[in-house]
Amino acid sequence: MANTILVGAQWGDEGKGKIIDVLTEQADLVVRTQGGNNAGHTVHIKGQKYILHLVPSGILRKNKVCVIGNGVVVDPVSLVQEIEGLRKLGIRIDRNLVLSETAHLVFPYHRELDAQRETFKGKNKIGTTKRGIGPAYGDKAARTGLRVLDLINPERFKQQLELKIKENNEILKAFGAQPLSFKQVHAEYRAAGDYLKPFVANTVILLHQAVRRGDGILFEGAQGTFLDIDHGTYPFVTSSNTTAGGACTGSGVPPHRMDRVVGVMKAYTTRVGEGPLPTENAEIADMLHAMGREFGATTGRPRRCGWFDSIATRHASMVNGIDELAVTNVDGLDSVETIKVCIGYRDGAKRYDYVPNDIEALSRCVPIYAEFPGWRTPTHNARKWKDLPAKTRSYLKALAELSDAKLAIASVGPGREQTIII
Ligand code: IMP
Repeated sequence: MANTILVGAQWGDEGKGKIIDVLTEQADLVVRTQGGNNAGHTVHIKGQKYILHLVPSGILRKNKVCVIGNGVVVDPVSLVQEIEGLRKLGIRIDRNLVLSETAHLVFPYHRELDAQRETFKGKNKIGTTKRGIGPAYGDKAARTGLRVLDLINPERFKQQLELKIKENNEILKAFGAQPLSFKQVHAEYRAAGDYLKPFVANTVILLHQAVRRGDGILFEGAQGTFLDIDHGTYPFVTSSNTTAGGACTGSGVPPHRMDRVVGVMKAYTTRVGEGPLPTENAEIADMLHAMGREFGATTGRPRRCGWFDSIATRHASMVNGIDELAVTNVDGLDSVETIKVCIGYRDGAKRYDYVPNDIEALSRCVPIYAEFPGWRTPTHNARKWKDLPAKTRSYLKALAELSDAKLAIASVGPGREQTIII
């Protein structure tokens, strides 16, 4: 398989977990390169539902090496719980999981600070997952973070953690929050360190050996383009580069070794957390929630929903260099009579055919819609392109054209088999 970067083309939750699982069949290695356990990738296999947060989804297939790369922020206690949970479901995890020694760690003070800052911001809050992701990347950028290397070096870890807890307890005190116990955090993290040590390696060397052998690598993105720290709807974003470039920095594999970029997007739009969502629509949200769809995999929060926004996905194609598109949740629109697609924004007299960077301007934008006739037929049993109603095919073709990329996959349900390769 060609080395493939898979990214979310919207605001996360595009159904990447399932597409990763499908593409993994042809890959030898699957690599996570950014984010942390804020991600929740859902995969359904033979009626069993798996939700992965830090472990790459490739773990669900035999003989795939799964790498948690240097660009990921790792809560080691939560990673141990996730591995244990998967083992209980019968998933083999041993030498098929590798953790970068230079990945940064997430600590309880990061989570506490994340929550305190959100409360402090009041109505301007970001709506984070409260997993400590922002403060952990903040420490990384400030060069005060602790890494996996430190966690597995007991003496060094003790000294560094003692200082970090002291410093962060002062900050927590200023917020009026409870200080953390060094002893407790130390004991928990050391236990996690011992558990994880056999998985730890220099993943840059490992990946380059794989590249030299000609192995196929799938770089699985987490979150989505508009949550990217540089290219998203800042400040309502996550703290990593969720776009294609993040796969290079987060793994140490250079850009010229990447062969293709696959963008995943829903047939409509969703977002969790705060921030602008130009096509947001209460009717669509009510319809999808009533179908039991669109609740967050990590936090269980109902997702905000709206019509497909081609201004956003075209921007995603541009910044990621998307070659091929996977459109998911097509069946979510099965009962809609007239489907709308945003083809422009209007802010007063000004019309945009791109996503404005000024968050206030974007918040004012009103979508300009094109309308498509709904197919009003169940699509979940379709397995081939020709099985789809003609109106569904026209709709999907239009989404790809408007998004400026080639349509490659359509997904009509959560199961592996509900995937149409075009
Ligand atoms: P954080 O990543 O927890 O700091 O949250 C920042 C923003 O990104 C919030 O709006 C979250 O809801 C959103 N976010 C983080 N991870 C995901 C994800 O995996 N899917 C969808 N949204 C996410």
